[in-house]
Amino acid sequence: MAPNPPTAAPTAGQGTSRKVRSGSGRRAQDRVPGRPVVSVVIPTFNEASNLPVLVRRLENVLNKIPYELIVVDDNSPDETWKVGQELAEENRHIKVIRRMDTRGLSSAVMAGFAIGQGETLAVLDADLQHDERILPELINLVSQGDADMAVGSREVDGGSYGNFAPHRRFISWGGAQLARTMLGVSVADPMSGFFVLSRERYESVVASVNPRGFKILLEFLANGPKPQVAEVGYTFRDRIHGTTKLTSSVAASYLLALMELSFGRFVTATFSAYALVGILGLMIRLSIEAAGTAIGVSAAAIIALEVSIISNYGFNNVFTFAPYRHRGPSVISGLIKFHLVAGYGLIVANGVQSYLAQRTPDTLLWDLLSLIGGVLIATVGNYLLNCSITWKVLRS
Ligand code: GDD
Ligand code: MN
Repeated sequence: MAPNPPTAAPTAGQGTSRKVRSGSGRRAQDRVPGRPVVSVVIPTFNEASNLPVLVRRLENVLNKIPYELIVVDDNSPDETWKVGQELAEENRHIKVIRRMDTRGLSSAVMAGFAIGQGETLAVLDADLQHDERILPELINLVSQGDADMAVGSREVDGGSYGNFAPHRRFISWGGAQLARTMLGVSVADPMSGFFVLSRERYESVVASVNPRGFKILLEFLANGPKPQVAEVGYTFRDRIHGTTKLTSSVAASYLLALMELSFGRFVTATFSAYALVGILGLMIRLSIEAAGTAIGVSAAAIIALEVSIISNYGFNNVFTFAPYRHRGPSVISGLIKFHLVAGYGLIVANGVQSYLAQRTPDTLLWDLLSLIGGVLIATVGNYLLNCSITWKVLRS
C-alpha cells in the first residue's frame, strides 16, 4: 500500500461566515482532569476479523493522546461484540455497547457519542477502509480549537478513493452533490464516515440529530450554527474481510434523511414519501380500472383496487419505510395489516366525503372538495396507523 502523507486543508467556505471561537483555542489548562482527549466510536456489524486489527492500530497511533475506544455493535451474528469484550479485558480504555433491539449505523454512532467522555468525539469505520494514521491530526485540529469539526477526506489534496468501485464512487459523488445543493454544505467530502467533533459542536447539535440513515456527518454539518471545518486527505482502502452494509434501502433512507434535513420537521420526509406513493397508487388504480372497463371486465374496479393496494404496500415497504422493511415471511403479515389499514381508510374517506357532501352546496366543485377532504383525512389516519401497526416505526 502506498504511504499517504496526510495534508491538512482547513477549508474556506464552511467557516467563512462566522468565526466560531474568538480566543486562541483550547489549551492544556482547560482540560477536565481524568477526561480523555478523544472518545473514538467504532460502529460494527459483522466485523469480527477486522476489529482486533483496527484496535491494535489505534492503540499505536494514539500512544501520545489520552483516549477511549467505544465499540458499538448491533448484536452481530459473527459475535463482533464478544471480540470487543475480549479486547476490553486487555485494555481498560475500551468499552463495548451491544445493542440488542436496534440496527443502524447513524444511531449506533450516536449511542457511542452519548456515553463518550472525551473532549472530542471521533468516529471511524471498523473495516480498515479509513486510514487511522491521520486520526491524531484530525483530533489535534479540533482539540486545539482550529476547527469545530475535522473530516477525513477523499476529495482534498492527499486524499483519494483508492480502488473504490466506480459505481460506488458515483453514488458517493451524487450524494455529495445533493448535500451541497440541498443543504448548502461546502465540505468536499460530506459523505465521509470518518471525522472528529468538538464537544461543543456535539452539544449544540445533538438535540436536532435525526439518527436515521447512513450519513451522520451531514447531520453535524447541516444542523445548528455553521461550523468551522477542516479536511485532511487520506486514501480510502479496500475492504479485506466482510462485506459492505450500504444497500439500496440504505440509499433510500439517505434520500429520505436529506429531504427531512432540508424540508424540516413540519412535513416529515416519510409522510411526503407516503403521500407520493399514495398518488402513484391512485394513478395505477384509475388506469387499470379504465382499461378493464374498456375491455368489459366486470370486476375491473375490484381488481384495480387490489393491484393498487399491493403495489402501494411494495413501494412503501422498500422506499417510505425502508429502514423498517419487511423481508421474507413478514411480508405476508405486513401485507395483511396494510390491507386492514387500507380498508379502514376507505371507510373513513367515504364517511368524511359523504358527511361533507351532505353539508355543502350540491355543485361539482363542492363534491370534489368533499372527496379531497375525505382522502386527506383518511391518508393522514392511514399513515399514522401504518407507522404504528404495519411497520412499527419507533421514533424518539
Ligand atoms: N453498529 C452498526 N450497526 N454498525 C454498522 C451498521 C449497523 O447497522 N451498518 C454498518 N455498520 C458499520 C460497519 O461495520 C463499518 O464499521 C461501518 O459501519 C461502515 O459500514 P460499511 O458497510 O463498511 O460502509 P461502506 O464502506 O459501504 O461505506 C463507506 O463509504 C461510504 C460512501 O463514501 C463508509 O465509509 C461510509 O461512511 C461512506 O459514507
Ligand atoms: Mn466500509
